[in-house]
Parts: sequence; structure tokens; C-alpha cells
Amino acid sequence: MRRRDFFSLVSGGLGATAFISCSKEFLDEPSLISAARPGGGGGGTTRYPLRIPGVVNTPNDYPLNCINVGSLDVGGGKKVSNFWSYNGEYPAKTLIAYRGQTVSINLKNNLPEETITHWHGMIVDDRNDGGPIHHVATGGLEIYNYNFPIIQRAAMNWYHPHPHMLTGKQVNLGMAGAFIIRDDEETSKGLPSGEYEIPLIIRDVTIDRNGNLSYKPSSGGFNGQLPMVNGILSPYLNVNKGVYRFRILNGANSRIFGLALSNGASVKLIGNDGGLLPLSSLQSRIDIAPAERLDILIDFRNLSGTVMLKDMRSGWDLLEFRSTGNNGNSYDFATDITSIFTSLGAPATTRVFSFDGMTKINGLEYSMDRIDWRVPFGEVEKWVFKTNGNAPHPVHIHGASFQVISRTGGRGRTYPWEEGWKDTVLLEDSETVEVLIKFDGYRGKYLMHCHKLEHEDLGMMANFEVI
Ligand code: C2O
Ligand code: CU
Ligand code: CU
Repeated sequence: MRRRDFFSLVSGGLGATAFISCSKEFLDEPSLISAARPGGGGGGTTRYPLRIPGVVNTPNDYPLNCINVGSLDVGGGKKVSNFWSYNGEYPAKTLIAYRGQTVSINLKNNLPEETITHWHGMIVDDRNDGGPIHHVATGGLEIYNYNFPIIQRAAMNWYHPHPHMLTGKQVNLGMAGAFIIRDDEETSKGLPSGEYEIPLIIRDVTIDRNGNLSYKPSSGGFNGQLPMVNGILSPYLNVNKGVYRFRILNGANSRIFGLALSNGASVKLIGNDGGLLPLSSLQSRIDIAPAERLDILIDFRNLSGTVMLKDMRSGWDLLEFRSTGNNGNSYDFATDITSIFTSLGAPATTRVFSFDGMTKINGLEYSMDRIDWRVPFGEVEKWVFKTNGNAPHPVHIHGASFQVISRTGGRGRTYPWEEGWKDTVLLEDSETVEVLIKFDGYRGKYLMHCHKLEHEDLGMMANFEVI
């Protein structure tokens, strides 16, 4: 496939320019919005129970079947089709494993095109990392067997397809799930658990006139018309008078969410991509870019009635919390949560990466068989990300977590949710972000790319090798 054919192919012949104008009309047409949003817009929106994905503990020969048949219940029995999924579910099962365990997963591809699954945030060897080079052909005959030990700290990671130029489409049509790692340090904190620990995959979605999930991206990114949390369009969650832990993933292709509670209350930020932060803090708004994760506690002990989790950027209502009035857990919200953190220290090498336009890193589009740089195993390096425009570029690295040390230009600061360990960091227009990174998991080939999936698919991605 030539890259210039890319958007005409995925959008079924509709050019990018045509899409932008059509999407605008679509947004301005109230009947369509209310048709797609059960119960209609305005004050009286009918809301449906949040879906809590099922769990698989320590996946062992776990079958992951990629399929494009079936429909997704987006709340109240309303079904949408053109749904692509892992095992027919969105979100796919939450996989959970403990540090030190080994997991095995068998991928089968029954999609009409190639795919491969990547374990975003997980430190695994090249063959298990699921980059585009390992793609599995369509037809359902070949099984790709993943088998890897869990060698990193507790965190919520996630899994999604990563085939060459098709990632945005496959993720957008419904292929994603969470992968939670636990360890002794985190377990010792006694954080809210069981029904008080809930993963939230937040994204945007477009549903066309015929009730199909619709992926019509432009090179500036997919811009969905409705918010969706755990596959439900207008969800609510009944909460007891207690403290809940939410494991949040921005599962959108390109949208950034500005999360806040409608009553202005602060949440307690305890973790991000790479697990618990060195120190928790109270936050009234947190911005989260595609592929970033957050670990937050919300105190519902004094909630009577309802409160809304909102996206302050779009004004969207994301998830309504409804108090049951019942007593919940007795977790002490005031306790600070701390976690062991060691700075990586002085870098041996500095590399500068410029995210150019919407398709290139350091002037080059991705090529599957080109290795752009080589990194010595076990050495600390400073990587500098910069861009002149076309942001946001959520920069993601495979194979290791990193520490964000500075941001200059643009917003000119780093944020509390960028402390600790990260695998994705947001680069806005004219910003320069510096990170420290050390690859001490495995030698082999890994990827760095923009996690605005349309930029990734257009070529804003590079191979490097840890040697
Ligand atoms: Cu979540 Cu290389 O991706
Ligand atoms: Cu990744
Ligand atoms: Cu980008």
C-alpha cells in the first residue's frame, strides 16, 4: 500500500477534505446527535449502566480472537455494527498478572486484513512486542503465540492492534483492552479494590446514519462526535459512600480529554502510565492525551445525588456517578500515597527528535526495514522531542518507561501527572520535552511514534534497536 492512498482507502473513497466539511455538517445537525445519543440530547439524557469489562487473571494460553463480526451494545440495548473486536467485546477483557509471573496469549486473526497486537507499556522482548513487522495474515489460520514474563512494576497498561498503516482503523472500530500489572509494593498500600477499583477506557466515537461505527479520519486525526466510556455512550455508575480507584486510559485515536468533576471537587492523583507516582496530590483538572493512563481516587463519602465526570475541552459529560446512599468502604482518602522512585541520573548520550508535519520524525517517514538509531543496553540517555506544529503529538516509546525532566516552549512546564514513570508524553506546538530513558529489559528492535494514531499510520514512527 502506498501511503498517499491511505486515507482514500480507509475512508472508502472519501477524500480528507471532503470528510472535514461533511463532519462539520454532521456535528451541526441536532437530529443526528440525538439519534446517536440514546434518550436525546439536552437535560433529559437517558443514561445506561457503565460496562465493567470481565477479567482474566494470569492469562495462560488465553485465546485472543480478532473478529469483525458482531455488534456492540452501546447502552440500553442499542446496537452499533461495523464493530471489530477481541473476542466480540469492547472493552476487551481486562488481563491481570502479578510481577514475576509468565503469561501466554494466542492471537488468531479473523479480520479481513492483517493485524498484530501490541502490549502498550509492557516491557517485553521484540517478538512479543507486537510491532508491525510481526503482522499476522488474515484468514484465521496462523496463531501468534505470545509468551512473556512480567518484569516491571505495577501499572495499568493496555493492548491494541499495531499493524502497518491500519492501527488507527482497528483501534477505532473497537479493539482495545486493559492489562493490569500488580506487585508487592502496590499491594502493600491497601488501595480500594474489588468493586471499588474500576478501569475506564475513555474515547470518542462516530456512528453513521445506518448505525455503523464509522472511521473517517483526516490527517489531522480522527475527531469523533460522541464520548464513549467502556463502550457505553451515556453511562452512569452507582457508587456507595466510599472511596473508589479509577484506572483511566485515554483510548481515543487523537482526542485529548481535560478531566474534571462537575462539582469542582478534587480527585486524588496517585499514578500514571508507569504506576504509582512518588507522591499523590489533589487535582481539580487533569489533561490526558491518547494512550496516557491515570490512576485516581475519588471520594464519594459525602456525595448525595449525582456528580459528573466531564471533559472540559469539549464540554462533554463522560460518566455520571449516582450515590446509592449506602455505606461503602472505609478507605481513608486523606492518606498520602507514596512510592519508591529513583531518578535515572546523568545521561551518557543525548538524541534530538523532531516531529515534523504529520508524517515524519527527523525528516523521515516510517519504513519497516530501516533502523534509525541504536541504543546501548543499560545506558541512561536523554531524548529530546520537539515540534514546530501540527501537534498534539503524544510521543510514545516501546521497550522502556522514561522520566519526563522538562518542557520548554508552549505550555512551558511539566504537570504532576507527568512525574514518575511514563511511556507516552504530550508534545504540543512549539514545545520541547526532555526525557531520561534507560533500556534495561531486552535487547532488540523497538518503536517510537506519535500516538495520534493517524500520524502514526501516516509514517510518524521510527524503528530503533537496543544493542
Ligand atoms: Cu500504543 Cu506503539 O503503541
Ligand atoms: Cu507501545
Ligand atoms: Cu503527531
